[in-house]
Amino acid sequence: MLVFAHRGASGHEPENTLLAIKRALAMQVDAIEIDVHLLADGELVVTHDRWLKNQPKVLTRIRDLTLAQVKKIDVGKGQAIPTLDEVLECVAGQCLVNIELKAERTVIPLMKVMDRAIANWQFQPSQFLLSSFNHHLLFELKTLNQHINTGALTASCPLDYAAFAKRLDAYSVHIDIDFVNQEFVNDAHERGLMVYVYTVDNEADIVEMHHLGVDGIFSNYPTRSLVKIAHL
Ligand code: G3P
Ligand code: CA
Repeated sequence: MLVFAHRGASGHEPENTLLAIKRALAMQVDAIEIDVHLLADGELVVTHDRWLKNQPKVLTRIRDLTLAQVKKIDVGKGQAIPTLDEVLECVAGQCLVNIELKAERTVIPLMKVMDRAIANWQFQPSQFLLSSFNHHLLFELKTLNQHINTGALTASCPLDYAAFAKRLDAYSVHIDIDFVNQEFVNDAHERGLMVYVYTVDNEADIVEMHHLGVDGIFSNYPTRSLVKIAHL
């Protein structure tokens, strides 16, 4: 099973920050998962929520801000929200990167950043896995570049999900641990899809995922998962 550092090593450092990314790299994870939003000035930034958490009374939408405004925000331990460029320059092809598209209109700017990463920061195209709950975006990605690996995210267990993901020409299905079961895993594997499960931190859950035969887990505490898997 691959171990994806979920939002970087987010159990140890503020999620989706360069600190969390560097911590995950030091743990020698197989992959790093990050969330991406689009700003008002077209910049892509790595952050999970559509609202800024540090201003609960104002409820500012991230998409209404510019990079200059976003960079003033401290998301913990003095960390700023990083751009996608900053994160990919930091990773520099050391592991797989799963970029989760959280917003509309992210596909074109994302493809430009990936091209920069391949040209400048030692990435191979196959080191990117692009996922989203918005399957229209995955369809758009595959239409623009059929070689891009996409992951179809679900927060439930829809009927015939593997068949649906196969029609999308996805590489993988990403499912919540609450809904994954043997039938789902077998169905996906029979159709040639990888199965990645989020979020798996508990040791008993890691063992269960191993027995189900899933291909990867998203973990906030990657070291714990890597050590447990090594002893299975
Ligand atoms: O990509 C797996 C997982 O990160 C999806 O849910 O809300 O943590 O982005 P969320
Ligand atoms: Ca995510």
